[in-house]
Amino acid sequence: MHSTISFIIPLIYLLTAFEGCYSDANLPGIAQKLASGDRALSSIVFQVTGNVYPKGYYYVTVNIGDPPKPYWLDLDTGSDLTWLQCDAPCTKCLPAPHKLYKPNKNLVTCMDPLCASVQWPEPHKCESPNDQCDYEVQYADYGSSLGLLVKDWFPLQYANGTVVKPRLAFGCGYEQEVEASMDPPYTDGILGLGLGKASILRQLNELGVTKNVVAHCLSAQGDGLLFFGDEFVPSSGVIWTPMSTTKIDKHYYLGTAELYVGGKTSGVKGLPIVFDSGSTYTYFSAQAYKKLVSMITNDIKGKKIYSANEDKSLPICWKGSKPFKSVQDVKNLFTPIMLSFEKSKNVRFQMDPEAYLIISKYGNACLGILNGSEVDLESVNLIGDISFHDKLIVYDNEKQKIGWAPANCNKFPIINNDGVLDCGRYCKHDGSDPDILQAYSVA
Ligand SMILES: *[C@@H]1O[C@H](CO)[C@@H](O)[C@H](O)[C@H]1NC(C)=O
Ligand SMILES: *[C@@H]1O[C@H](CO)[C@@H](O)[C@H](O)[C@H]1NC(C)=O
Repeated sequence: MHSTISFIIPLIYLLTAFEGCYSDANLPGIAQKLASGDRALSSIVFQVTGNVYPKGYYYVTVNIGDPPKPYWLDLDTGSDLTWLQCDAPCTKCLPAPHKLYKPNKNLVTCMDPLCASVQWPEPHKCESPNDQCDYEVQYADYGSSLGLLVKDWFPLQYANGTVVKPRLAFGCGYEQEVEASMDPPYTDGILGLGLGKASILRQLNELGVTKNVVAHCLSAQGDGLLFFGDEFVPSSGVIWTPMSTTKIDKHYYLGTAELYVGGKTSGVKGLPIVFDSGSTYTYFSAQAYKKLVSMITNDIKGKKIYSANEDKSLPICWKGSKPFKSVQDVKNLFTPIMLSFEKSKNVRFQMDPEAYLIISKYGNACLGILNGSEVDLESVNLIGDISFHDKLIVYDNEKQKIGWAPANCNKFPIINNDGVLDCGRYCKHDGSDPDILQAYSVA
């Protein structure tokens, strides 16, 4: 049974339950202006591992502590707080790839301004100035983490090879819950990349380490790249739309859009759109979902694919005369889906079949856009990992805008054995604007 939490809670993290029930996927899931000026700063690049199906999540390896130890953290632009499963001691921890993080007299106190930002919507009472700072985050998939804030070293390497070692605050989570029917991701915690004060990105920016810009490039073939800073954001070819700070604050909200399927309007307008890398799939509100399904169904009539129901991976699947091996096999049968932003003229987010279909283990093509009303997302339309496939998605918190560009996320930039970015002839490391559009763009 789903318990009831409201969407006000910071995020949106739905885990994937693949077999047995299609209760859905990984939804985890915010706007302020910061001053780091126009100083050129090198960026930090992480290799991303994971896929939408069958894993249902994407993670990066982050080294934390002194001496540093590696942890796998699930990318989540839908929430602010980074946390690790933690031996504080742990009352409820999930199976994880690494040993629990052990705090070492490095607690953040309740007086610290960061503390108030994790105790949302209202700060707890701080009885004595040395008291620990407790937090609890709840995700829209009914998962949660309870713990306390700590500070530790995060050795990070710039793309130019220089290592920095900031001390950052994060959560030491000693009690994690997941919804019973779900397979939690096999990671050590969550990398919160939202726009709140507690976000790692915001902290790095305040320490002058990187610009408050984060970008991800997730490949439809699996894996990809994550960038802190704007060094690798192409200077042209990116479609930008202003972040909207009004309606769904605390999330990367892009304003409202109209839905098009195969170049035709669905007639469904005013859809509030949120980008959330912590969500495996994309969720449309009930009316948009219904219209989408009926338009796609109509569009494929007569194309020799039939609805399939042996597959419990996702609620809507299609099969052909023989099993499909990849989305390439069905690409020509399906039409692009498009969101046209209402406040920004000519700004469209296009989803080709790679951005809304997965091929299940039965070789069926399944729709990776789900009914948000079934998971209590109300009117919010959440764009998740599947729809970010083969695009560079940039969340620029300095200029308050979100952008996207087609990209080959497997090919470029390349990270060498030392973990240093090797962008060949494409980028300069003098901080000048690298024109890497050519390198990114798909042929
Ligand atoms: C690399 O970039 C950082 C941040 O911009 C800078 O502080 C450092 O001096 C650079 N290192 C090299 C070797 O250019
Ligand atoms: C979407 O979910 C809502 C709430 O469960 C339900 O009433 C509606 O029928 C669903 N829409 C479709 C097309 O399945």
